[in-house]
Amino acid sequence: MNATQFAKKILCIGAGYVGGPTMAMIAYKCPQYKVTLVDINPERIAEWNSDRLPIYEPGLDEVVKSVRGKNLFFSTDIDGEIHDADIIFVSVNTPTKMFGVGAGMAADLQYWEKTARQILACSDQPKIIVEKSTLPVKTAQAMERILNSGPDGLHFDVLSNPEFLAEGTAIKDLLEPDRVLVGSRLTESGLAARQEIVDIYQNWVPEEKILVSDVWSSELSKLVSNLFLSQRISTINSISAFCEKTGANVARVAKAVGMDPRIGDKFLKASIGFGGSCFKKDILNLVYMCQTYGLDEIAEYWKSVVGINEYQKERFVTNMLQAMFNTLAGKRVCLFGFAFKANTGDTRESPAIYIARRLLEEQTQLVVTDPKALRNAKIDLADFGEKVEFEKDPYEAAKGCHAIAVMTEWDQYKTLDYQKIFDSMVKPAFIFDGRNILDHEALFEIGFNVYPIGKPALTHLNES
Ligand code: UDX
Ligand code: UDX
Repeated sequence: MNATQFAKKILCIGAGYVGGPTMAMIAYKCPQYKVTLVDINPERIAEWNSDRLPIYEPGLDEVVKSVRGKNLFFSTDIDGEIHDADIIFVSVNTPTKMFGVGAGMAADLQYWEKTARQILACSDQPKIIVEKSTLPVKTAQAMERILNSGPDGLHFDVLSNPEFLAEGTAIKDLLEPDRVLVGSRLTESGLAARQEIVDIYQNWVPEEKILVSDVWSSELSKLVSNLFLSQRISTINSISAFCEKTGANVARVAKAVGMDPRIGDKFLKASIGFGGSCFKKDILNLVYMCQTYGLDEIAEYWKSVVGINEYQKERFVTNMLQAMFNTLAGKRVCLFGFAFKANTGDTRESPAIYIARRLLEEQTQLVVTDPKALRNAKIDLADFGEKVEFEKDPYEAAKGCHAIAVMTEWDQYKTLDYQKIFDSMVKPAFIFDGRNILDHEALFEIGFNVYPIGKPALTHLNES
């Protein structure tokens, strides 16, 4: 098929963790469409066109390789691609604003506005614009005002189609989504545009899983989904602290609680806290909006979800410090994992960053190992220079260490030869399992002093 034969020309601005996999899936499932991704970062585009994709996601390489150059393209010609496209998805980042009004809380929408103006400047026919990023409500309205202010009187419909994929399972989530949500204006042209987006997903998503709504409800649904998920983690983490003090086992509590179908068993794993690019940012967005509307009590309620998350990270470091005789100075500590969750190389807002920095403040000699995230870890800890070692092999990383702290729930950490690791470490040897993934009794039998999250510690230190 050459370009003129494609049924639709779809463009995505922003080739990141969301835009990349989502567009690859659309191209894979819809050979009749031409799908192009552009990005202001030319290196990112070059990587998408290479054998080493810029992000790691299980199954992504296969999907990209099967369609790249056929109906999936990565380009740096942003203006030209905008001009040619029928439908434009926007998936640029919306970081937390770090200056002026709302600093530290509100979403920084400058990239969005810049993108809207660029779309307007490069268009000579009406287009459908689809918001893929998580954004505070009413962004679509602002976009629409900018886009429909052009001198040529061109009409743009701005829709919301939030992405619910989670990193590490992006391909599975895209292949079999729980739901696809498309919000539009309820005008004739808005509804027609909405149908065009629904038509794309109907190529592989069952009709009953495609929800339609107005734009604001769609935008807010995405924000609220992330709020509920992060709130569950803070809830179970708050209970983990209580379990540690009182001798209960948080995993057993979570299992019993989760068997109630009204509660459900997902997202109840106690941990060192949630990370990732979305949760904290989205909570702070809502907090800021609540404050703007004078809903101070609601703002405080959601702020506490972030508060517990910060507390959980600090609590982990304090536990390490206390267990290791109140001094970490000069001790070697190995972090098992640095990614914010397993099966991704992404470290944005990873709790490991905070914990690593606090340990370095305590003058620990830090060794970081991770199968996929070392490149990002080096950037995150660049200001500490030589004080941090990075080692891909966990056996090498643990050698000569006083303690191991599990930061990421990578499967491979469950099956390591811990006797071999124990033999290579300084005694008494400690393991702090920030993800509760290891066999704590077996580690204790080997001789480790074991500190899980939300469970009593198993230690040899009181034995005479
Ligand atoms: C981003 C947002 O962070 C998230 O809130 C939203 O839900 C989806 O989009 P993600 O894809 O993970 O998530 O971000 P990132 O990997 O940083 O990708 C954004 C891309 O947009 C980057 O490659 C960046 O170079 C690009 N970009 C940014 C543009 O192409 N133009 C811009 O003006 C700004
Ligand atoms: C999240 C949402 O799940 C997804 O729907 C949305 O589109 C983007 O934000 P993501 O950030 O990729 O996805 O990962 P997620 O699986 O939600 O995990 C977020 C954080 O919570 C991770 O740090 C993870 O380790 C932590 N977590 C998750 C827990 O600590 N305990 C749990 O039980 C589950």
